[in-house]
Amino acid sequence: MAILYLMQVEIATLTSFARNPEPSQSKGLRAQGVDMEVAMNVSDAIRTKRAVRKFQDKSLPEDVIRAILNAGRRSQSSKNEQPWQFIAIQDESTLKALSELGTYAGHLAGAALAVAILTPDPVEKFQTLFDAGQAAAFMQLAAWELGVGSCPASIYESEKARTLLGFPSERHLRIALSFGYPADEAKLSAAPKKGGRRALDEIVHWEKW
Ligand SMILES: Cc1cc2nc3c(=O)[nH]c(=O)nc-3n(C[C@H](O)[C@H](O)[C@H](O)COP(=O)(O)O)c2cc1C
Repeated sequence: MAILYLMQVEIATLTSFARNPEPSQSKGLRAQGVDMEVAMNVSDAIRTKRAVRKFQDKSLPEDVIRAILNAGRRSQSSKNEQPWQFIAIQDESTLKALSELGTYAGHLAGAALAVAILTPDPVEKFQTLFDAGQAAAFMQLAAWELGVGSCPASIYESEKARTLLGFPSERHLRIALSFGYPADEAKLSAAPKKGGRRALDEIVHWEKW
């Protein structure tokens, strides 16, 4: 009974979040011309979200940025440790410099916003990168709902990133996310790519391998 109740609360919360993420937030977003009523539901966001690596030369409203960061903050984590700290970067020269610290991180250079996800040393606790990944996914889905595309960038030169962003020695950077309005707006409403994901039968084993 209690579980049923919790599930109902969860579903109601998710539904209302999808329709109207946060009353104060949506007011601010509407004031800036962002239509918060035309929100997609969670399953549509999951189904349609694709990596976006080319962005319009247009900044994101502050409320949109805060909505994205808040989604990351709300993510679950092992023991609720919330091991992340986020550096939100909008400065063009920093974005460019960060884009040079990963082999395929070039898309950061053209983003309106990058979020560097800092964690304790992931070698010490295997759950750490799992946690960071969930925060990333929450941010990317919340962004997608608001018409904002995104893509992760693996950062290989983590010590150079430390110098660039000035974070302390106990923090580590492996992944940064780029965000921005997609250069190709059709991406937001495109049907899922055929063959873009493996079929369920290829990946699910029922009961045993
Ligand atoms: C952990 C992780 C690291 C990634 N690193 C990069 C990267 O360095 N550069 C890049 O362009 N895309 C990167 N991606 C994006 C993936 O290439 C992308 O999510 C995948 O190809 C699926 O794309 P789709 O959703 O458009 O089908 C990364 C994704 C994840 C989850």
